[in-house]
Amino acid sequence: MILPIYVYGEPVLRKTAEEVDVENTDWKPLIADMFETMYHANGVGLAAPQIGKAIRIFVIDAEPFRESYPNDDLRKGAFINPVITEEWGDDFVFSEGCLSLPQISEDVTRKSNIHIEYYDEEGQFHEEDIHGIVARVIQHEYDHLEGKVFVDHLSPIKKMVLKRQLNDIASGKTKASYKTVHHK
Ligand code: NI
Repeated sequence: MILPIYVYGEPVLRKTAEEVDVENTDWKPLIADMFETMYHANGVGLAAPQIGKAIRIFVIDAEPFRESYPNDDLRKGAFINPVITEEWGDDFVFSEGCLSLPQISEDVTRKSNIHIEYYDEEGQFHEEDIHGIVARVIQHEYDHLEGKVFVDHLSPIKKMVLKRQLNDIASGKTKASYKTVHHK
């Protein structure tokens, strides 16, 4: 089922998301809906707060970066109760976008490597090092679980320049190719 996407200005995007019960709950149906919603909107990642649920789950599929990053280990997956325990390496500048901030993209600098612990949709625990563009997508989605969005990383001046665009998103004036939720 394709779900509507909550946009900038919605309080759910500012909450610290809660851990979920991995052992006793089947998250597969929700995760399937999240993938369907993400693909429908042509996204490479979607976090649960973006569909109005302040819980610690996100999905990614970095396949659209195949041409630009042919040597990266591009992958698709669901991350439940993820914890980024370390970030290191060179600063990596990349122009980010977000389904909750339609029509905005800006350069964001982040570290190029992460160590992450998480459960997959089968309830299996994983811990691994992830690099490059996939690490970037994960860092962006992880921010959503912490109540952050990518424009929070920009300088105050950059944010000021974007103010009108952000207000337009919050008030539903900005058109997206998918259904959005806004209350202002
Ligand atoms: Ni996003």
